[in-house]
Amino acid sequence: MSEQFDNTAGPLTTESGAPISDNNQSEAAGVGGPLLIQDQVLLEKLAHFNRERIPERVVHARGAGAYGTFTVTADVTQYTKAKFLSQVGKETETFLRFSTVADSLGGADARRDPRGWALKFYTEEGNYDLVGNNTPVFFIRDAIKFPDFIHTQKRDPYTGSQEADNVWDFWSLSPESTHQVTWLFGDRGIPASYRHMDGFGSHTFQWVNEAGEQFWVKYHFKTDQGIKNLTQDEANKLAGEDPDSHQRDLRESIERGEFPSWTVQVQIMPAAEAATYRYNPFDLTKVWLNEDYPRITIGKLELNRNPDNIFAEVEQSIFSPAHFVPGIGPSPDKMLQGRLFAYGDAHRYRVGINADHLPVNRPHATVARNGNRDGIGYDGRHGRQKNYEPNSFGGPYETGRPLWAPLQLSGETGEWETPRHAEDDDYVQAGKLYRLMSEDEQDRLIANLSGFIAKVSRDDIAERAIANFAKADENYGKRLAAAVAELRK
Ligand code: HEM
Repeated sequence: MSEQFDNTAGPLTTESGAPISDNNQSEAAGVGGPLLIQDQVLLEKLAHFNRERIPERVVHARGAGAYGTFTVTADVTQYTKAKFLSQVGKETETFLRFSTVADSLGGADARRDPRGWALKFYTEEGNYDLVGNNTPVFFIRDAIKFPDFIHTQKRDPYTGSQEADNVWDFWSLSPESTHQVTWLFGDRGIPASYRHMDGFGSHTFQWVNEAGEQFWVKYHFKTDQGIKNLTQDEANKLAGEDPDSHQRDLRESIERGEFPSWTVQVQIMPAAEAATYRYNPFDLTKVWLNEDYPRITIGKLELNRNPDNIFAEVEQSIFSPAHFVPGIGPSPDKMLQGRLFAYGDAHRYRVGINADHLPVNRPHATVARNGNRDGIGYDGRHGRQKNYEPNSFGGPYETGRPLWAPLQLSGETGEWETPRHAEDDDYVQAGKLYRLMSEDEQDRLIANLSGFIAKVSRDDIAERAIANFAKADENYGKRLAAAVAELRK
């Protein structure tokens, strides 16, 4: 960060700048006596300490971040008018926060859990945030299920621990989770470090070019370090010995000048093909097959600078799927649509209404101009400028250029199920993924899943869970049933 506060020389002072004569003895009423309320040094220090924490993120509380550079390596102007993607060789500053999902801030990095991949591009047309995971799919396909899902991953209201009963009750009653659960309990479920995993935008997004033509796009970030994972035993040991393993690895590699990088790829679908694609392309529990929409390499992402202050730059960093720039927009994916609300709301609660003004969050390659003002933490940056629009004092004006292109709509409003396309069901891609795994990986998958399912206290929940995997692949279900039975003997 550019603005450094000089804390190195000169006398200690209070927050209001008065010199502090004694920072080690509180002021007492006589030798050995009780303390005095007039000791403002003590009172201010204790009060400030009590307010050091802000609420931790309700999910993805543990994380590590780094700044970097995104470089365009292919011409994509036929698909999007986004300026930061407009020229081969063009560079954009980025900030990437990795995270685990379920643990609280004080947990450990080496867990079986998806990893968050929250990437901010500081573009000349505003910040573009891609708030994805290290997995291309997710457990559910409608935002309205997210709080219930997360409640099953977090602590039970009575026991205060994560409960296998809750996890498997929810997953088994939400069979659309079968694909993501198969992924999570496979080898990639515990990455060896943040550097050795891929990232995904996960959702389908809209790209629109200068001519107004629309495309659907999925983002992939392929690690140049190679994929490396931990087995469950290795992770259990590491989580105990070094809870901050992944955070440390990222920081130290950047300190050594070993800058991690990712090859950035996209899958692109002409908008008209969405209606007839074999899977609903807006269903987050499904991938688009590479054979249908091959990945195209468009850029390179490198992380090359550590934040100086974790609280200011990582804890207070905010990312929102609603932060788009011209040429990029949302798709009708019901998860993405819900997330367009959830993040800004979380930021206003967690960091405050002026969170966007903080150095890590504000635009770096342009400035924010609008009539929003004041509130807790407002720094008066707008000085005497008018705070309304339209005005005739030379204030900012609207552009008349929408960021993204309009969607065609039909039918009636309603709580509709996500439409199923020709080959859609809840199990098809989970079965494909299982059959893609080597026999060794299948063995580890069965061991990981059965170990967890065996902890469930009710047989009907365990049976319902196994039945979903059997629908994905008969052999998968049979092996799991046998392994769970063995463990429950
Ligand atoms: C509708 C479903 C979802 C809801 C309501 C939701 C909500 C949230 C909320 C409230 C936060 C905390 C934000 C903050 O305090 O700054 C968060 C963090 C996060 N979520 Fe989601 N989430 C959803 C689904 C997803 C999905 C599908 C992904 C990935 C594909 C994802 C990736 C992340 C990441 C990476 C973070 C951490 C961001 C950071 O590093 O600050 N979430 N989510």
